[in-house]
Amino acid sequence: MERSLIILKPDAVQRGLIGPILTRIEQRGLRLAGLKLMRIDEALARRHYAVHEGRPFFNGLIEYITSGPVVVLVVTGANVIEMVRAMVGATNPVKAAPGTIRGDFALEIGRNLIHASDSPENGEMETSLFFSADELVELKRSTDPWIYE
Ligand code: RTP
Ligand code: MG
Repeated sequence: MERSLIILKPDAVQRGLIGPILTRIEQRGLRLAGLKLMRIDEALARRHYAVHEGRPFFNGLIEYITSGPVVVLVVTGANVIEMVRAMVGATNPVKAAPGTIRGDFALEIGRNLIHASDSPENGEMETSLFFSADELVELKRSTDPWIYE
């Protein structure tokens, strides 16, 4: 069982794309474990993107992700890391396939709308960075047998 931490970045919130993006996640059948609207402060942004510290785009990235409220969510299930990354599309929207979130809604790498964990380990780490244990739930749905064999 994997957990993917997803962030609808400030541009997604400002552009009214919370609904359309959440709709894709919900319609796919993915299981939500946490969901909230919040502001990312600089310290949290630096921890979340620590792997990119020192890169030329790092300061711009921190400014971008802290520039307004974001929606953060956790989805759980087998293979969710790979599935969500595929739904998100390539980092640079120029390369993102149509049908992906970035390929359908974004144009530039510095305004690419959404973050998703890139490995099961990072999914766990990022989930604990953004959510306390009491903010997460185990969601059981009557539709589960129609989604999972
Ligand atoms: P994310 O972490 O946000 O889900 O995106 P990602 O895995 O697809 O891409 P990553 O390499 O982790 O980069 C993190 C974010 O930094 C910004 N970026 N800008 N100007 C640039 O060359 C550049 N490269 C990366 C993007 O906002 C990217 O999502
Ligand atoms: Mg990344």
